[in-house]
Amino acid sequence: MAELYIPRAHSNSWYEHLATLQAGYYYPWNSEIGERNGEQAFLELIEEYKGTAVNVLEVGCGHGELALSIADRYGHVTAYDRIPSYIELANKSKDDTGAGNVEFLCYDAQNPELHQTTLPARTDSVDLIICRRGPLHWIEDAARVCRDGAWIVALNPMEEPIPAWSSKLPHLLHFENSGRHTGTGSIHQSVENRLHQAGLTLHSGWSFDVPETFGSTHELYRMITWGLPPRKIPSYEDIRYKLDAIFDRYGEKDGIVLRHCRFLWRAQIHKSK
Ligand SMILES: C[S@@+](CC[C@H](N)C(=O)[O-])C[C@H]1O[C@@H](n2cnc3c(N)ncnc32)[C@H](O)[C@@H]1O
Repeated sequence: MAELYIPRAHSNSWYEHLATLQAGYYYPWNSEIGERNGEQAFLELIEEYKGTAVNVLEVGCGHGELALSIADRYGHVTAYDRIPSYIELANKSKDDTGAGNVEFLCYDAQNPELHQTTLPARTDSVDLIICRRGPLHWIEDAARVCRDGAWIVALNPMEEPIPAWSSKLPHLLHFENSGRHTGTGSIHQSVENRLHQAGLTLHSGWSFDVPETFGSTHELYRMITWGLPPRKIPSYEDIRYKLDAIFDRYGEKDGIVLRHCRFLWRAQIHKSK
């Protein structure tokens, strides 16, 4: 029997497949994330750069939730993503909210044929580039689009420890096959490499590692099956007894606890040399 092909999590084909499973980019499970986590810190950090004259570029905006939620604190926000259905959703939400200073673009910043990365912005036009949980390739073109003194603020998922119970599940449902597993190794090193190759340097970086609690077997099932083809994997009912056994053996007071890990970083563009 041919082995089931699973696209590498967060590859272009993985996002294209995910877009057929759920409307927009979001985590489809409910969980409790510990305080002082990276997601919260990212939102607080971008607030430091707010201003009515600030021109923002958001990379890999998904269905536009972040761009719309911050738009009233900035001059203009351009946000792009390569998945057409995400941009359709973003534009629909924009119509609903009436945010006049946001522009959503369906755009792929990477041209694989030309081995070239081009951000959708004019040279010397951007004051703040933001990217939440997105790719890193765009760093290559960041200095071109930024004004002198502009900032990049980004948040990336950081490799999380693989839980001991993962191997108790059928192979397809191992943690490593879930979209939650980045499989990228050291994100800190990857960011530093990309910045260095673009002639930039990391200004500051913060690692966040807090607990994330899944209170029921159903929510845990949602997490481990995220992004996998529903008709090719065991149903919740099929493996419920295994999930119950995992909760019995590994569960803590409020449920199964994973680590929620993020790397938050910023870099500044210096052009006038
Ligand atoms: C992990 S999702 C994050 C979405 C959103 N920033 C959020 O926080 O919910 C990463 C997004 O980057 C987009 N992306 C990846 N490579 C891209 C590229 N070359 N050009 C445009 N978008 C890209 C994906 O389509 C995906 O929507």
